[in-house]
Amino acid sequence: MSALETVAATGGPADGGAPPLLSVRDLVKTFPGRRTRGGRAGAPVRAVDGVGFDIAAGETLGLVGESGCGKSTTGRMVVRLLEPTSGSVTFDGRDISHLSARALRPVRRHVQMVFQDPFSSLNPRQTVARIISDPMLAQGSGAADARKRAAELMDLVGLIPEHLDRYPHEFSGGQAQRIGIARSLATRPRLIIADEPVSALDVSIQAQIVNLMETLQRELGLAYLFIAHDLSVVKRVCDRVAVMYLGRIVEIGHKAQVYGAPAHPYTRALLSAVPLPDPAAERARERIVLLGDPPSPAHPPAGCTFHPRCHKAREICRTEAPLLQITGPGQRQAACHFPEPAPAG
Ligand SMILES: Nc1ncnc2c1ncn2[C@@H]1O[C@H](COP(=O)(O)OP(=O)(O)OP(=O)(O)O)[C@@H](O)[C@H]1O
Ligand code: SF4
Ligand SMILES: [Mg+2]
Repeated sequence: MSALETVAATGGPADGGAPPLLSVRDLVKTFPGRRTRGGRAGAPVRAVDGVGFDIAAGETLGLVGESGCGKSTTGRMVVRLLEPTSGSVTFDGRDISHLSARALRPVRRHVQMVFQDPFSSLNPRQTVARIISDPMLAQGSGAADARKRAAELMDLVGLIPEHLDRYPHEFSGGQAQRIGIARSLATRPRLIIADEPVSALDVSIQAQIVNLMETLQRELGLAYLFIAHDLSVVKRVCDRVAVMYLGRIVEIGHKAQVYGAPAHPYTRALLSAVPLPDPAAERARERIVLLGDPPSPAHPPAGCTFHPRCHKAREICRTEAPLLQITGPGQRQAACHFPEPAPAG
């Protein structure tokens, strides 16, 4: 993409004016290919292939797409658990994409991560006090201050502060995720990358954690990159949503536009699989079946990478990759040669 195209490829900030808290441009991550049995190097995996978006302070951007499309890799590059192969991640006006571990330390305070599996992300041999205090100690807090704040954070996320000296296995899944959230809040971050934060939890507990995240957002002014494959959860929490397919964003825009009148055939197919609460509407609606599995990012199809699964594909789709561009009103963008027309009015 040219610089001009990538600047446009963000779906627009939520408030339309203020500089974004986070700007991601042309982000690429290539993993080395796995060795074959014969010892030959496999084709490199382009897990993320030119992703761009903005997140405003206090905003939630949802990131959705099938398994393996590059959501986690994108999130991990934003928090710099992974170094981008190319492209940029700018936080609060500063390019953090290639900062050294030392230079990153002050930035880490402001950008934290919540993981999918609360238990595997909490050290089973550490007490909750230690788990929540660690990020504060790493930022130079004293032990007594860190423990005091850990107790406050337990209270904030709805846990009993007296349970600080317990170990993760003494908590339920929902409680463990609350501990993960408390840990992420320890350094008073401004942006949280939540990678499938409720997918591993029972449905009733999911709602509690989503409520908690929304309350914390209102109280603390947090911004979220909320990664999930469950489109209903994302619809509830996000202001804008980005849909990924095989390492790229294929549609991005405000929730009402993307959910209300999806422009990209892939978005339409994903949404048509989400059950509607109204049985009559559920019976009447068009269902678009997604054929087969996504191709491997080591061998992406030519042209539009969605073409082997797209019911609208034509000749041009097999040879020319569509650019992400504005379709219809607002700043909603889609990467399709034949996007759905925006509804009249
Ligand atoms: N360390 C790695 N080495 C090689 N390939 C990787 C590595 N990490 C991820 N991949 C590949 O990159 C692609 C994107 O993976 P990623 O985990 O970002 O997808 P995802 O959208 O988060 O999927 P899921 O919904 O299953 O969590 C996949 O094809 C995956 O196999
Ligand atoms: S560009 Fe063609 S193949 Fe790709 S989503 Fe649009 S219609 Fe389908
Ligand atoms: Mg993932």
